[in-house]
Amino acid sequence: MKKLILGTVLGVAGMLVSCGPKSVAVTGPKYTSSEQLAQGKTIFENSCNRCHKLPDPAKHDDQGWINTLSRMAPKAKLSDDQHQMVYDYLISANKK
Ligand code: HEC
Repeated sequence: MKKLILGTVLGVAGMLVSCGPKSVAVTGPKYTSSEQLAQGKTIFENSCNRCHKLPDPAKHDDQGWINTLSRMAPKAKLSDDQHQMVYDYLISANKK
């Protein structure tokens, strides 16, 4: 029961935080293993071409993808973890 209450409190706090314009779930790189990057690529290719063509990872720098993904990940209904993996894939692929 305590866990439930704590979970609810954290959930509500998380919702409040995610409404603020400055706070985003992903603020920097986290995953670096090739499996996780490959998974991020798969999620990207399956989730990000529903409303428009797949964007070129080189379209944005690392900071730019934080901003764009914080708008697009909710549209694509990604979990925080999927959001993170897509971000890590994009910044691994955006350097020429
Ligand atoms: C539910 C529809 C939808 C999904 C799913 C979606 N997008 Fe978008 N995307 C849009 C719309 C609408 C725009 C144009 C309006 C805007 O820029 O917010 C856009 C614009 C963009 C742009 C151009 C604007 C910019 O900031 O460069 C990029 C890049 C982009 N999306 C990336 C993505 C990525 C990456 C994903 C997968 C995580 C994704 N989108 C999933 C609807 C979607």
